[in-house]
Amino acid sequence: SAAPWSRGGTLDPVSTVITGIGELLTNAGRQGEPEILTDAAVVIDGGRIAWVGDARRAPDADERFDAGGRAALPGFVDSHAHLVFAGERGAEFAARMAGTSYGAGGIRTTVEATREAEDDVLRANVARLVAEMARQGTTTVECKSGYGLTVRDEVRSLRIAGEMADEVTFLGAHVVPEGMDTDSYVSLVCGEMLEACAPYADWIDVFCERGAFDGDQTREILRAGVAAGLQPRLHAGQLGPGPGVQIAVEFDAGSADHCTFLTPGDVDALAASRTVATLLPAVEFSTRQPYPDARGLLDAGVAIALATDCNPGSCYSSSMPFCVALAVREMGLTPLEAVQAATLGGARALRRDDIGRLVPGARADLQILDAPSHLHLAYRPGVPLTVAVWSAGLRMR
Ligand code: NIG
Ligand code: FE
Repeated sequence: SAAPWSRGGTLDPVSTVITGIGELLTNAGRQGEPEILTDAAVVIDGGRIAWVGDARRAPDADERFDAGGRAALPGFVDSHAHLVFAGERGAEFAARMAGTSYGAGGIRTTVEATREAEDDVLRANVARLVAEMARQGTTTVECKSGYGLTVRDEVRSLRIAGEMADEVTFLGAHVVPEGMDTDSYVSLVCGEMLEACAPYADWIDVFCERGAFDGDQTREILRAGVAAGLQPRLHAGQLGPGPGVQIAVEFDAGSADHCTFLTPGDVDALAASRTVATLLPAVEFSTRQPYPDARGLLDAGVAIALATDCNPGSCYSSSMPFCVALAVREMGLTPLEAVQAATLGGARALRRDDIGRLVPGARADLQILDAPSHLHLAYRPGVPLTVAVWSAGLRMR
């Protein structure tokens, strides 16, 4: 797990009591059940939450931070991002807004630029985006490879991701690179590439979609990844319905990501599993696609997460507050459900129980908003409300 100071935080070896929290969202209850304290305090010690409760009963600490009646909540868990890349595709975005539809073909443009870039260029790009995320309240970042698509470029993508991200995902199976046939590329991914990459990754992912990898290829790649010690997660149902969601459930994947196009059978399968449906509404915003049915999923008993999918093609936003606002405005979630999906939901999608909630023993990942309630994240879209952030007890801003 990456060092939080790589995000620009400063080491704070003393304990801190944050008092004057007007509204504290702890996520201590189950998803959908509010656990909101008023006039609360939190004590941070040794990078962990040491105490949570009524401000009048807060124990003393080396330092005090007065929240002045503002709202505090867990740091966002961004469980889906593609940050190791070079260049940008603004012209492709402009064309989409003018009516061109999104296709996975643009990925190859970024692959070319990424292969040509020096390590330090890629490193600086990840650092810039992770810092951008931290300023907006994100304290956990998952980062995928997938713009290298050679053994050398996938390995270096993962190594660089691991310097700054908390969770690292091998996505050699993003698309088939130019000049290669699908069967030989799947063999490479499952063989030499996986062997070289597995030591630098926690997860294996496949873009299971028409134009990328089909069901059989996806199963073969996930099977190989699991045998190499990686945990499965999947890109599924982004551009149309397909076998991805069923495969994710079959493999007990941490999550099925996108879930924009689902069949009723997909929803039932997710509801009966512990695979999280990770919704990425900033993608739909940036590709003019219909938003996924978050309301329907929650009502069917599916665990959901919200994440950015930050990447230069389908969505160049690093903003979890933007995702929360979209989920409320466009996907039928209450502000509380959306914020929980962006915190606790992401933690579940990453199978982590030390983040996403503010309870004693959890990692001290929290943020303070310049607002009286978490509700303002949706009520005041586009406004940078996050004014203070701690990641593993380190003050990030
Ligand atoms: O999650 N779906 C595949 N990969 C990314 C997009 C990558 C790109 O367009 O560069 C996604 O949307
Ligand atoms: Fe993605």
